[in-house]
Amino acid sequence: ARVEPLKVMISGAPASGKGTQCQMIYGLVHISTGDILRAEVSTGTEIGQKAKGYMDNGMLVPDEIVTDMVITRLSLPDVKERGWLLDGYPRTFSQAQSLERANIRPDIYIVLDVPDEILIDRCVGRRMDPVTGKIYHLKNFPPETDEISARLITRADDTQEKVVSRLETYKRNAEAILSTYLDLLKKIDGNRPKEVVFEEIDSLLQQFQADASKSKKLS
Ligand code: AP5
Repeated sequence: ARVEPLKVMISGAPASGKGTQCQMIYGLVHISTGDILRAEVSTGTEIGQKAKGYMDNGMLVPDEIVTDMVITRLSLPDVKERGWLLDGYPRTFSQAQSLERANIRPDIYIVLDVPDEILIDRCVGRRMDPVTGKIYHLKNFPPETDEISARLITRADDTQEKVVSRLETYKRNAEAILSTYLDLLKKIDGNRPKEVVFEEIDSLLQQFQADASKSKKLS
């Protein structure tokens, strides 16, 4: 019998590098609530219209909107086949409890740890490519060509003031969420070059799968 595909949650403060790392991890289905919500806003769906005001102000979108969205996404066949990498959810204790009630629990809960003063600079300098979805930073990861540079956009919630308030929201919720996943926690120093952070995450995931396959053979 084959080993079950991996289920991973990645968490951390705004701009701790969750999206950047997820773009480097292959195989698992990447589910980013921030990306899904931004897509709903830009196509003007009902969810997007409800979410926009909260997002632009750096506030959390109400739990019931996001929770339904995530649980529906996690029930699709690609997720069952390839496993999942959940980025940006759960963001509150009540969201974590909703997953527990639905019997959805990760194998690993990764937290990217980055000092506050670095987070602000990362947000303010962040730019997104609307065509490829790739994440850039004016200093750390400038765009490769002038053509890309000309089309980059800045997120409405990436001003210094909104980042401070997003960070406060994160800190207010982090401990209660962590209590749900304490036994699965892997804290990673996210204040290093992105390739170094990725190597650590990648070897964690590989180790987990090797252990799972060993115990499957023994049983
Ligand atoms: P979301 O998109 O999830 O925003 P976030 O958690 O604030 O995270 P970010 O996207 O800001 O940062 P990141 O950690 O992905 O960092 P990145 O890789 O981009 O959510 C947005 C909004 O949607 C929320 O405010 C809320 O309104 C709503 N929402 C989403 N989920 C919700 C939920 N569950 N419930 C309710 N509401 C929800 O990197 C940041 C920058 O740093 C980039 O410029 C990057 O190039 C650079 N960088 C990355 N890694 C490194 C490195 N190692 N060294 C140097 N620079 C780096």
